[in-house]
Amino acid sequence: MPNPALAGDLSSVAEKRELACDIGLSVAVILYDPAKSRAGFFSLGGRIQDFADKAEQNLGTLLGKLSAMGSVLPTLECYLFGGNQKCLWQVSRLEKILKRHSLPVEVLDDVYGQVCRTFVFSPLKGTLSVSHLEEDANRWSPAASALSIEDGNRIFSQNAVTGKVANATRFFRERETFIGLREQVVPEYLQSKNSFPLLLWSAGCSSGEETYSYAMYLLRLQQRLKINFPFRIFGTDINRELLRDAQKGEYNIPREDLEEYGDYFRKFGTLSGQRITFGPEVREHVEFRPFDIRHHPRRRFRVIICANVFQYYNDQARIYFMNNFISASERPGYIFVNNFPAKLREPLGLEYFPKYSYSRVQ
Ligand SMILES: C[S@@+](CC[C@H](N)C(=O)[O-])C[C@H]1O[C@@H](n2cnc3c(N)ncnc32)[C@H](O)[C@@H]1O
Repeated sequence: MPNPALAGDLSSVAEKRELACDIGLSVAVILYDPAKSRAGFFSLGGRIQDFADKAEQNLGTLLGKLSAMGSVLPTLECYLFGGNQKCLWQVSRLEKILKRHSLPVEVLDDVYGQVCRTFVFSPLKGTLSVSHLEEDANRWSPAASALSIEDGNRIFSQNAVTGKVANATRFFRERETFIGLREQVVPEYLQSKNSFPLLLWSAGCSSGEETYSYAMYLLRLQQRLKINFPFRIFGTDINRELLRDAQKGEYNIPREDLEEYGDYFRKFGTLSGQRITFGPEVREHVEFRPFDIRHHPRRRFRVIICANVFQYYNDQARIYFMNNFISASERPGYIFVNNFPAKLREPLGLEYFPKYSYSRVQ
């Protein structure tokens, strides 16, 4: 449930990539300093009588900590997020308090109506994602996110994902998949002397960071191996709005990522400060399309990556999607999914490579 003490965790936030909090049915206040990629938040349940006092107290703590860390009030952005019908009164109260402190408040779309949720906020990117959804508060349990295929379709395809509310993703996110490409998939593909391009499907690609990462990585691998093997990467998602961002090929790169992957960004894009525009060399290898993974794609792929999608779904949906991926896989082919436990994977009889978290389809 809402945990106002989280505001007190702020000193460690600067080093963290993500802030996570179960906000249940309440409204969360997020203060975000984009200049320093730093954020803190609080969320209050409780009685209407002392709500304003508690909110003032929490806000004071949060502002104090941010200011001690060098953030200054005029540069702070402030967002309100969440709250079911019964808690909507909190929005107007919080707005009043925040305005008194001269904080410019933006009320983010309450994406899914009356739901309990855990949110994950990335101070580095300024993105907010909902990691748990359940329409019936009484059945809500943080341990079980269990959307059916139909619910997932309805929720994720709604174009309600706007403004700062996005489905979190990052460049070069699942490291082992890149190592797997270098050590196993590409050498095997080259050995096969296949003239057909290596096709990779980034399923549930969100705003495309993942797709561009694989393109950059494979281009770099081509250069190292001095072999121009043909490849193409399809990024698909159910949310068209995210795909429009992906198609633009322009991103603000978090400082941390710039430090770690700067060579890639400098080589394959034009950097202006922290903003990258990917160039034609990368773009010609990627293609973005709307697609719901409950359908069968027409193509077959050597590699299917569906990262950080299964966590939202129930086991039945996960198995259904995985069977889809198996039938969309080349032979041999490799599938990466996370949040697919051994008890679901083993009955499918696929060879599993723990080092790369790839399942091999023969
Ligand atoms: C947390 S993001 C993961 C993005 C990226 N794969 C990564 O790991 O960084 C989850 C994405 O899955 C997409 N998604 C959820 N259900 C889907 C479905 N049934 N078909 C296609 N995309 C789906 C969401 O729209 C969202 O963009």
